[in-house]
Amino acid sequence: MIRIANPLGSVLEYSRLAHDELVDRIRSRKRDLNAVILGHNYQRVEIQAVSDYLGDSLGLSQQAAETDADTIVFCGVHFMAETAKILSPSKMVLMPDLRAGCPMADFVTAQSLRTLKERFPDAAVVTYVNSTAAVKAESDICCTSSNAVQVIESFPRDRTILFVPDKNLADYTARKTGRPIRSSSEYLKGDAPAPEPGTIIAWDGYCYVHDDLVLTELDEAKRKHPNAKVVIHPEARRDLLQRADFVVSTARMAAIAEEHDELIIGTERGLIDRLQKQFPHKTIVPLSRAAVCGNMKVNTLAKLAWCLDHEQYELTLAEDVRSRAETALRRMLELSGGWRAPTPEERQLEQDGLDRSGCGCA
Ligand code: 13P
Ligand code: SF4
Repeated sequence: MIRIANPLGSVLEYSRLAHDELVDRIRSRKRDLNAVILGHNYQRVEIQAVSDYLGDSLGLSQQAAETDADTIVFCGVHFMAETAKILSPSKMVLMPDLRAGCPMADFVTAQSLRTLKERFPDAAVVTYVNSTAAVKAESDICCTSSNAVQVIESFPRDRTILFVPDKNLADYTARKTGRPIRSSSEYLKGDAPAPEPGTIIAWDGYCYVHDDLVLTELDEAKRKHPNAKVVIHPEARRDLLQRADFVVSTARMAAIAEEHDELIIGTERGLIDRLQKQFPHKTIVPLSRAAVCGNMKVNTLAKLAWCLDHEQYELTLAEDVRSRAETALRRMLELSGGWRAPTPEERQLEQDGLDRSGCGCA
């Protein structure tokens, strides 16, 4: 551990420091450790502002796989930091707060997925990255919200697919790829008839933030902003997605905001708060003001400063789980074109905190 001159003891002590002092500490300690801060688009805006790379799950995993830094500080939720460790096992991966979990990831365990696999031994297992390392280790390939359709299309049309854990993303990809869809609970409960070839058998998980978005809120937002384009994350329900102009990941949403002046956005508030700051002259309205992921907001600047000073909390993984999960993640990254170096313009945007280099196309 590199010693620092004046670390404080507890997060409480850090939380008493002024904003600028916290930012100075974070920046200088990051240099000492040769660390990179990866921040998800749903983080608090002040954390987004100190992140070296801001992005969606795909872009962040590509960054984690490619970074030259010795330490990755992940400001997001647990499965994202795990993904970084899976892809960069020799690096120290830190999280400001281990309680930043993703409830969607907790819908499926490795054991429950194994039970479903026993029912369908020839099926391919496609796992949304919002899942634990142990579940990824049971999978053939991972996907994110930006490449789920591409991943499903990489399999023969008659191959049965087990898709975990998000039923809404499964439904969206089934409609986009023209495959039938059934619920895994039909098969786990009893003797449902065999599915048609090529069926997507979807786990019953969901994201409470996106699944809670409702049509009445969209109607109300559309009534106030009839000319606004509607952009919704594919974790939302079908009835909403059918009304959207764009169904895309968070990185793609940020790119769309550069191109349009009036938007209604159906996703978590962290991204929308940032876009409103970034484009004060545009009309960018949340589909729902209540769409807040409490788990993402567990991270604060004070915890980030503490985390860097104390090199805590370090994320570790059992090697057999990590290496099997890596195979599933690498297959996804290969399909998504791996990682390319950002152009000088993208680097400039990154420095300005406006990164768009994640592919982000849904
Ligand atoms: P993105 O990959 O689109 O950033 O989404 C991650 C997530 O957790 C959505 O709820
Ligand atoms: Fe998980 Fe939903 Fe939060 Fe994303 S927004 S981290 S899917 S609970």
